[in-house]
Amino acid sequence: MNNARLRVSSVTALSVVLLLTSISLFAALAGCGEETAAGNDACADCHADVTPGIVEQWRDSRHGDQDVGCLDCHQAAAEDADAFEHNGETIAIIVSPADCANCHIDEVEQFSGSHHAQAAQFTGSLDNFLGVAVEGYPAAVQGCQQCHGGTVTVTENGQLDPETWPNTGMGRVNPDGSMGSCSACHARHEFSRAQAREPESCGKCHVGPDHPQLEVFMESKHGILYEANREEMNLESDSWVVGEDYSAAPTCATCHMSATPGQETTHDIGTRISWTLRPVVSKKFDNWEEKRASMVDVCTQCHSSSYVGDFYSQFDNSVELYNNKFAIPAKAIMEELQADGLVSATPFDDKIEWTYFELWHHEGRRARHGAAMAGPDYVQWLGFYEVADNFYNQFLPEAEALKPGISQQVLAEDYHKWRQGLSEEEMQQLLQFYEERYDQ
Ligand code: HEC
Ligand code: HEC
Ligand code: HEC
Ligand code: HEC
Ligand code: HEC
Ligand code: HEC
Ligand code: HEC
Ligand code: HEC
Repeated sequence: MNNARLRVSSVTALSVVLLLTSISLFAALAGCGEETAAGNDACADCHADVTPGIVEQWRDSRHGDQDVGCLDCHQAAAEDADAFEHNGETIAIIVSPADCANCHIDEVEQFSGSHHAQAAQFTGSLDNFLGVAVEGYPAAVQGCQQCHGGTVTVTENGQLDPETWPNTGMGRVNPDGSMGSCSACHARHEFSRAQAREPESCGKCHVGPDHPQLEVFMESKHGILYEANREEMNLESDSWVVGEDYSAAPTCATCHMSATPGQETTHDIGTRISWTLRPVVSKKFDNWEEKRASMVDVCTQCHSSSYVGDFYSQFDNSVELYNNKFAIPAKAIMEELQADGLVSATPFDDKIEWTYFELWHHEGRRARHGAAMAGPDYVQWLGFYEVADNFYNQFLPEAEALKPGISQQVLAEDYHKWRQGLSEEEMQQLLQFYEERYDQ
C-alpha cells in the first residue's frame, strides 16, 4: 500500500514537472507566458456554446481539475501537416501519442513498444486482401481500420481527409508520423483510467467470431464475479494494485496491464502472454517463460501457485491439441494443394480457401481464446466442436475432391483412429447410456 502511494505521488510529481516543462514549451512556442492559459480559457469559453458536450466532459475530468486545457493538447507547430489557424492559435484536431508524451512519457514509451502500436501494420496479410479486394475499400475503412487504425492523411487544402478520418483505431498512423491513438481506450474528453479498466473498453475490438475475448471473459467465472461485484472493484481509485485495492475479480486490465504488489502498470499489453494464438499454428513468443511468470504473478494474488500451474498445463494441452491434431495437418494439405497447382496463388478464389480460413482464423482461434481465459463454451461448442465439424465434414472432403487420397496419411494418425469405429465395449456403453437416461 505504502509503495503504491509513493509510486502514485512520484508519478504525480513527475507529471507536474513535465506539465510545467510543457507549459513553458508551449509558452515559448506562443512567444508569451500568459498566452497559453488565456488561450485555454478562450477555447473552453467559446466551445461551451459550440460543442458543449466536449467542454462538460473535459470539466469533469482530471485534466479539467488540473488545468490541462484545450490548447495544452491541441496546440500544434506551424510545420505539422495537419496544423491550422483557429481563433488566433495554431492547432490540430489530432492529439497524438507524441502530444500526450509531453506529460505522460512512460505510458507512451510502453505503448509504442507494444503490438498495439503496430496494429495498423497489416498490409500483406490475408485479412487485408479480404478487406480491400474481396470486400472493398469503404468496408475496410469502417471495419478493419476502426479497430486496427489507418493512416490519416491531410488533403491539399490542409484538412483531414474524410477517406481516412474519423479514426481511433489502435495503431493509427498520425500525420506527425507517430503511431497509435490513446483514445482507443481512454475515451475523450474524459481520459479516465477508471473507464479504461472496465472490460467493455477492450470490447470494441476484442469481440466477434475471430477474437471473442470479451465474450469469453463475460462467460468465465472472472466475468461473472466482476458483474456481481462491480461496486466493490474500486475502479475510481488512483492506486489499483490487485489484492490490495480490490480482490473481487480481475478485469482485462488487471491481467494484461495493471499493477501487482511487485509489478508496475504497463501500457505494453504483450508483456504477460506466452503464446500467440493468432496464426494458423500457435507458437510461443521469445522469452515466453519470463512473460508467463509475469502473468502468474497476477493470478497468484488470488490463487495458489499450484492451482495456476495446473491451469496452465490444461491450457497448453488444449493449444497443442489444436496445433497437432488439426492445424498442422490442415496447413500441410493446403501447401500440397498449392504446390500441385490445384489451389491458385490468389487468396479466396477457391472454395477450400474459405473453409480453411474459417478453420483456423475463426473456429480455431475461438477454441484457443476460450482455453486461455477459462470460457468453456468457447473451448467446446463454439470452438473444438466447430473445428472438428469443419475439418472432418468440409475441409477434408473438399481436399479429397481436389486430390483423391490426400487425407489418407493424416487420417492414419492416432488422433483420428476413432473413425475406425467403436469397440464392442464402447458400443455397449453408448446404448446403455441412452437406454437408462431417456429410455430410448
Ligand atoms: C470564438 C469561438 C471559438 C474559439 C475561441 C475556439 N473555437 Fe474551436 N471551433 C469553433 C467553431 C465554431 C468550430 C467549428 C465547429 C463545427 O464545425 O461544428 C470549432 C472547431 C474546433 C475544432 C474541430 C475542428 C474539426 O474540424 O473537427 C477543434 C479541435 C477546436 N475547435 C479546438 C479549439 C481550441 C483548442 C481552441 C483554443 C485555442 C478553440 N477551438 C477556440 C469556435 C471556437
Ligand atoms: C488530454 C488532451 C486533450 C484535451 C485537454 C482536449 N482535447 Fe480535444 N481531443 C483530444 C483527442 C485525443 C481528440 C481525438 C482526436 C484524436 O483521436 O487524436 C480530441 C478531439 C477533439 C475535437 C474533434 C472531435 C470531435 O468529437 O468533434 C474537438 C472539437 C476537440 N477535441 C475540442 C476540444 C476542446 C474544446 C477542449 C477543451 C475544452 C479539448 N478538446 C481538450 C485531446 C484533448
Ligand atoms: C500538459 C500536460 C498533459 C497533457 C498534454 C496530457 N495530460 Fe493526461 N494528465 C495530466 C495531468 C497533470 C494529469 C493528472 C495526474 C494525476 O492526477 O495523477 C493527467 C492525467 C491523465 C490520466 C488519468 C486520469 C484519470 O481520471 O484517472 C489519463 C488517462 C491521461 N492523463 C491521459 C492523457 C492522454 C491520453 C493524453 C493525450 C491525448 C494526455 N493525457 C495529455 C497532464 C497532461
Ligand atoms: C472488431 C475489431 C476488428 C476488426 C473489424 C478487424 N480486426 Fe483484425 N484484429 C482485431 C484484434 C483485436 C486482433 C488481435 C486478436 C488476438 O490477439 O487474438 C486482430 C488481429 C488481426 C491480425 C493478426 C495480427 C497478428 O499480429 O497476428 C490481422 C492481420 C488483422 N487482424 C487484420 C485485419 C483486417 C485486414 C481486417 C479487415 C478485413 C480486420 N483485421 C478487422 C480486431 C479487429
Ligand atoms: C489498451 C487500452 C489503453 C490504451 C490504448 C492506453 N491506455 Fe492508458 N490506461 C489504460 C488502463 C487500463 C489504465 C489504468 C491502469 C491501472 O491503473 O490499473 C491506464 C492508465 C493511464 C494513465 C494513468 C497513470 C497510469 O499509468 O496508471 C495515463 C496517464 C495513461 N493511461 C495514459 C495513456 C496514454 C498517453 C496513452 C496513449 C499512448 C494510453 N494511455 C493508451 C488503458 C489504455
Ligand atoms: C481499438 C481496438 C482495440 C482496443 C480498444 C483494444 N485492443 Fe488489444 N489489440 C487490438 C489489435 C488490433 C491487436 C492485434 C495487434 C497486432 O498483433 O497487430 C490487439 C492485441 C492485443 C493483445 C496481444 C498483444 C501481443 O503482444 O500479442 C492483448 C493482450 C490485448 N490486445 C489486450 C487488450 C486489452 C487488455 C485491452 C483493453 C484494456 C485492449 N487490448 C483494447 C485492438 C484493440
Ligand atoms: C484472469 C486473467 C485474464 C483476464 C481477466 C483476461 N485475460 Fe486475456 N489472457 C489471459 C491469459 C492467461 C492469456 C494467455 C496467456 C499466454 O499465452 O500465456 C490471455 C491471452 C489474451 C490475448 C492473446 C490472444 C492471442 O491471440 O494471442 C488477448 C488479445 C487477450 N488475452 C485479451 C483480453 C481481453 C480483451 C480481456 C477482457 C475482455 C482479457 N484478455 C481478460 C488472462 C486474462
Ligand atoms: C482478483 C482475483 C483473481 C485474479 C487476479 C485471478 N483470479 Fe481466477 N478466480 C478468482 C475467483 C474469485 C474465482 C472463482 C472461484 C470459484 O469458482 O468460486 C476464480 C476462478 C478461476 C478459475 C476457475 C474457473 C471455473 O470455471 O471454475 C480458474 C481456472 C482461474 N480462476 C484461473 C486464473 C488464472 C490463470 C489467473 C491469472 C491469469 C487468475 N485466475 C486470476 C479470482 C481471481
